[in-house]
Amino acid sequence: MNINMNPNGELVQSAVNAPGVIEIPESFIAEAKQFRELMMMYTCAIRETKTKLEVLNDELAVRNQRNPIQMIKSRVKKPSSITEKLQRRNLPVNVQSIKDNLDDVAGIRVICSFVDDIYTVANMLARQDDVDVLVVKDYIRSPKKNGYRSYHMIIQVPIHFSNGKAKMRVEVQLRTLAMDFWASLDHQMKYKKNLDEADEIIEEMTACAEMIAAADLRMQRIREKIDERENPPSPFQRDRD
Ligand code: GTP
Ligand code: MG
Repeated sequence: MNINMNPNGELVQSAVNAPGVIEIPESFIAEAKQFRELMMMYTCAIRETKTKLEVLNDELAVRNQRNPIQMIKSRVKKPSSITEKLQRRNLPVNVQSIKDNLDDVAGIRVICSFVDDIYTVANMLARQDDVDVLVVKDYIRSPKKNGYRSYHMIIQVPIHFSNGKAKMRVEVQLRTLAMDFWASLDHQMKYKKNLDEADEIIEEMTACAEMIAAADLRMQRIREKIDERENPPSPFQRDRD
């Protein structure tokens, strides 16, 4: 296949010995098509998983009169990040290698109101009979040294395409709004390499993570008290306890 490399006449005129037409090896084109198809499949896996989460949120909202999920964000990993991650791990950079080695091409972040909502939503998702849970990392019960907290799951969901079913992997990160606030600032810091007093900032961030975790739990207890006042246990319940 040929592509015409003449998007802008001026550029071609000023380029020295630039060929008007570039030959692209058929193998590259085939790989590019497969790559596009794979990214489409991950996009569909995100859509399917998001729907599952939205259904759970709708049902819990009707039952408990509040939304356990505040927000769902999602992304398909950028080609440059895919390449960077494979190269960093000394793995081949091709479509098969992406399928075999990367768990986080499809990523969903679920922002919950309270810590217990995270476990409720995660368990309900994990229990669904078409969801396989491959990996769980509970950085809420066991936070990272820097204070990072979130609940991570790598799940596999079947997606029905025209020529059959494919099991696609999706990384689901569940966290509270406060944990998300912390993680966003932490993420920004990673891109600012020349921070003066970096040690001091890291210490401050770890201290903030502890404060946030404590505040998350206090907020949850307040909500539990409000729930109890609104729906006191029935006398029968009390008799039984
Ligand atoms: P990756 O190679 O980054 O995928 O790490 P991993 O395979 O060990 O997985 P892990 O579950 O530890 O982390 C996966 C993702 O969680 C990262 O890509 C980030 O989005 C998020 N994450 C993990 N640790 C941190 C952290 O310390 N700070 C922030 N801001 N995000 C983190
Ligand atoms: Mg990972």
